[in-house]
Parts: sequence; structure tokens; C-alpha cells
Amino acid sequence: MGDWLIELLDENKHERALFDCGEEDLNSYLQQKAARYAEKNISVTYVATREGDCGVIGFCAVAATSVERADLNDSFRRRAGRYKQVPAMIIGQLAVRRADTSQGVGWSLVAYALRLAESISRQIGVALVILDARDDKLIQYYERYGFRELTRVPRRMFISTREIRNILDARRRARPS
Ligand SMILES: CC(C)(COP(=O)(O)OP(=O)(O)OC[C@H]1O[C@@H](n2cnc3c(N)ncnc32)[C@H](O)[C@@H]1OP(=O)(O)O)[C@@H](O)C(=O)NCCC(=O)NCCS
Repeated sequence: MGDWLIELLDENKHERALFDCGEEDLNSYLQQKAARYAEKNISVTYVATREGDCGVIGFCAVAATSVERADLNDSFRRRAGRYKQVPAMIIGQLAVRRADTSQGVGWSLVAYALRLAESISRQIGVALVILDARDDKLIQYYERYGFRELTRVPRRMFISTREIRNILDARRRARPS
């Protein structure tokens, strides 16, 4: 982890006006929609900031969703049982300020969302985390962390909360006590 922290977006605290990740739709999501959607319980945004500085260096937004069972590969389809829809969490937006890319901020936001999904899955049942890779190159970025593509939806990727739990458990075991 670098010198940033991740917390819930607070529109009275976090500086968003100067955020620029190079993609206008993501900039305006943070600047104009994120707080409004949180108020309406549509999605929740988490931001990365540096200690003592309220400027947002990165953010991700998450929401509840579901995935068609038929879009999963064979082994997941079997595990998902007989229901047509599988409960999931979507990482709907992910962006890092241009000046702060390539330092691991993007991945730590994804990792934060994965831990959140794993924790929530113990309370309400969340079988998968999904996201849409913005372009083909980003597919490799997410594959590095265990995401795979759904079968019928191009660039829509998933990882199961069971896999996340296994990864987290393995890390805990590997940590020196
Ligand atoms: C994609 C993004 C979130 C990555 O954030 P980040 O903090 O730079 O990511 P990390 O530091 O965790 O990882 C960096 C690595 O990700 C990969 N990566 C980053 N952007 C990438 C892209 N557009 N295509 C392919 N790989 C990419 C590279 O391997 C990079 O390593 P490098 O710096 O050695 O080349 C950030 O570049 C961004 O906000 N881009 C614009 C918005 C966007 O595309 N969002 C993704 C929506 S799916």
C-alpha cells in the first residue's frame, strides 16, 4: 500500500473539481453524479486521498447487481445453483488522476472493493464481483488479479467472492505473526 488512504466520498470534504483521469465521462461522474447517486442509494463511491490533502487521487463506485447464470462458464454455472440470476456487486467506475497513475492506486481501489464484497457476502449473499473493462488492453490488467470474462458479454469480467475469500485467507496465513 502506498501513502494514500481509501474512504467513503464526502462531498463536503473531498476536492473533486480538479480531478482529471483523461476520460471526461469518469471525471464528470465524480464531479457531478457520485454524491447524488450515493444520496439516492444507487451507488457508493470510495475515494483515495493522501493524508492531509482532500484532493481525490482516484475513486471507484460500487453497486448491487445481478448476473445471468447463463453467462457464467460451466463450473461457475454449476456452483451458482438453479437460479437464473446470480447476486453480484459491480465496480461501475474506476479512475485515477493522471498525475498519480502507475503507483498502484488503481489496484488498491479494486482490492478495497473486493474486500468489501467479501465482507458483505457474509451478510446478504453476493456470489460475484463484476466490472466492465473499458478496452481490450484493460482485460489483461484485470486478469492479472483473477478476473475472467463472462461468456456472452464482451469485456464484462468477474471474480467470485469465494475466490476472493481464498486469496484473503491465503494472505492471512502467509502473514508472519
Ligand atoms: C486504468 C487506471 C484506473 C489504472 O490506474 P493505476 O493507478 O495507474 O493502476 P495501477 O498503478 O494499479 O496499475 C498500473 C498498471 O496498470 C496497467 N494499465 C493501466 N492503464 C492501462 C490501460 N489503459 N490499458 C492497459 N493496461 C493499463 C499497466 O500495466 C500499468 O502498469 P505500468 O504503469 O507499469 O504500465 C487508470 O489508468 C485510469 O484511471 N485510466 C483512465 C480511466 C480508465 O480507463 N478506467 C478504467 C475503467 S475499466
